[in-house]
Amino acid sequence: MLHFWDQSWDLRVAECPCDVHFLEWLEEAKVRDASIFHFGTGSHHIVGLKTAEDGSNNAVFGITASPAEYDAYVKMLIDKPRLGHTYKAYFGDIYQLDRRLLPMFDVVSLFHVGEFRTAKNDEYGALTELDMTRVLCDRLKLGGHVLFYSGSYAFDVAERVFGELVKAKVLAEAATFKTLRIFKKLTA
Ligand SMILES: C[S@@+](CC[C@H](N)C(=O)[O-])C[C@H]1O[C@@H](n2cnc3c(N)ncnc32)[C@H](O)[C@@H]1O
Repeated sequence: MLHFWDQSWDLRVAECPCDVHFLEWLEEAKVRDASIFHFGTGSHHIVGLKTAEDGSNNAVFGITASPAEYDAYVKMLIDKPRLGHTYKAYFGDIYQLDRRLLPMFDVVSLFHVGEFRTAKNDEYGALTELDMTRVLCDRLKLGGHVLFYSGSYAFDVAERVFGELVKAKVLAEAATFKTLRIFKKLTA
């Protein structure tokens, strides 16, 4: 069975501010006309929703492993069809990403690295944390940014993952913004 997430996450900024900090960083860094991959939409879909309304013309491709969160997206899209121009969410396991189906991104958010992957993903040969992150770094433009969330309870896993990629000179740390650690892609 797919290791899906049998829960739904509404916006809880005090507990988990990463998506709000991400939106604030996009604004502060003046990210515009960009293609963005976003790991973990929540049922609030705030990254896709705000981006569709803020005039940035950023396009967001979000992934959720929660059927309820995906249902929430389907309902939002039916109610607000204009949302669909810039925000696509899909249901699936991020550890099954296929690079052939991914465009080149300007920004990738990986706030939940290490939080959900278990032996259940191994049962169907899912990617490891590092391999999944490598796939997304391969699909990141030169100079593009990948962001991790230092408030994650699994941040030690993220640190190991970005540590490997820094060692391999794929990424270099570029900035911190509130709870976010921001890395730049070094190689094409
Ligand atoms: C705790 S919620 C956080 C949502 C949102 N980023 C926020 O901070 O409000 C974790 C998110 O990760 C997603 N998720 C969990 N496991 C996943 C997986 N294997 N592949 C893709 N998304 C996954 C869930 O569907 C959910 O949207």
